[in-house]
Amino acid sequence: MNATSDPALAGVLGGARLIPVLTVPDHTTAAPLTEALTAGGAACAEVTFRTPGAEQVVREMAAHGGLTVGAGTVLTPEQAERAVEAGARFVVSPGYDEEVVAKCRELGVPVIPGIATATELMRALRAGVDTVKLFPAEALGGLATLLALSAPFPQARFVPTGGIRSEHLAAYLAEPSVLAVGGSWMATPTHLAQGDYATISRLTREAVDRSTP
Ligand code: 3PG
Repeated sequence: MNATSDPALAGVLGGARLIPVLTVPDHTTAAPLTEALTAGGAACAEVTFRTPGAEQVVREMAAHGGLTVGAGTVLTPEQAERAVEAGARFVVSPGYDEEVVAKCRELGVPVIPGIATATELMRALRAGVDTVKLFPAEALGGLATLLALSAPFPQARFVPTGGIRSEHLAAYLAEPSVLAVGGSWMATPTHLAQGDYATISRLTREAVDRSTP
């Protein structure tokens, strides 16, 4: 069963198993980017807080409609607050930070904290978080590492992210402990700099097709 036991997260993701991860330098690309992703069949996207304009990008993408917009690379409770205020419906962090998790709970927004080790996963589970981002998934050993971590923690659900490409999707998504897969390959900063929305739509469509049974 792929379902997370976090009903709020399940509700927000609405069954989507693919999370395009976006780093957007210029908020004026928010509308065409949203349209390219939705044209490719994406249901959600994660906007990383790695650019000064990230908050505005979340605001504009959320207001545009068509996609469930979340915030990524959220490192502090303060960033979580700004992301949610801008319209983020879920929060993703590259690592496990108790204060970020607590702030998201206070704000009532689902959070997917990152873990890379069994120790971090134990801390997350003990705090009541059952869905974690395995990051950086491919560099950590990919599916083999995910399966090894899954064995002692059958209650954990994973969103592997980091180094994943379209051709890896089927293997990850066949694994019952994988809720969804994240990655930036569908909409890279280069695509955005070139205004290459056709490629973004094409790569998103290919990934959506591979992630749908
Ligand atoms: C993330 O923030 O989730 C990662 O940077 C995405 O990893 P990728 O760029 O290797 O897909």
